[in-house]
Amino acid sequence: MTHSTPVALITGAGQGLGRATALRLAEAGARVVITDLDLALLEQTRALSTRPDAFHLLRQDVTAEAAPREAVAAALEAFGGLDWLINNAGIGKAKSVGETTDEEWDRYTDINLRSVFRFSREALPHLRPGRGCIVNLASIFGLLGHPGVAPYAATKAALVGLTRQMAVDYGPRGIRVNAVAPGIIETPLTRERIQGDARFKAVMIDTTPFHRIGQPEDVANAIHFLCSDQAGFISGHTLVVDGGWSIGNYVAMA
Ligand SMILES: NC(=O)c1ccc[n+]([C@@H]2O[C@H](COP(=O)([O-])OP(=O)(O)OC[C@H]3O[C@@H](n4cnc5c(N)ncnc54)[C@H](O)[C@@H]3O)[C@@H](O)[C@H]2O)c1
Repeated sequence: MTHSTPVALITGAGQGLGRATALRLAEAGARVVITDLDLALLEQTRALSTRPDAFHLLRQDVTAEAAPREAVAAALEAFGGLDWLINNAGIGKAKSVGETTDEEWDRYTDINLRSVFRFSREALPHLRPGRGCIVNLASIFGLLGHPGVAPYAATKAALVGLTRQMAVDYGPRGIRVNAVAPGIIETPLTRERIQGDARFKAVMIDTTPFHRIGQPEDVANAIHFLCSDQAGFISGHTLVVDGGWSIGNYVAMA
């Protein structure tokens, strides 16, 4: 079946980066299936758009057995196809290995990693060759060591590897697979820590050459670029979106 405007599926789009990405892709003309644990948040996302008709909402837990099948089916039924999968839903908290229980480890890997594998497997056969792409939400902590985030960072580093491998396996079918690695972006996930932990703020924000915290739109724009034809020869790449924080040792001199 052909369809003229791209169809995107975005997990965890009730707030934060998923919401900003949904609004950005809709603004660019895409139709979007947005999923989240919280339907009220999804309704708020839709209400913020100038193109509310471009949205299809689905309440689901990405770790549920049927979630990938239901989400892909929703895209096919509501919009007649699927082009872009944005694996965004994720959780994170500052914890070292010693502080992490087995249950927490399983939760991190279930939500941040296993669901990405399962959603990608479900979507791949439906993504249109030459147009289909997947963007995974990794993290700068999936590329660099940082104190106290080991379980989270492990899932994000695994996503960087999964991105590369899927790009190799599905490139010959005309599917591109990329990731973004945001630095610290102001969302409900990070707001509390930025406001409550002066040391974290000093290490993460005052050492950013841009001297500001990232905004969800910074990441949404990068994801839109990776989905677009402009990125037609880019695959297997992890695009860092951190205002230059990770290029190293920036300290304001004045
Ligand atoms: N904010 C940052 O600084 C930052 C930096 C690097 C990477 N990331 C990654 O970006 C993604 C989004 O982060 P965010 O800051 O917007 O987070 P957030 O907590 O603000 O939003 C995450 C959304 O995902 C949903 N969600 C969580 N678990 C779910 C589940 N099991 N099923 C369905 N939906 C679920 C939540 O309800 C929420 O709406 C995550 O993968 C995160 O690891 C964020």
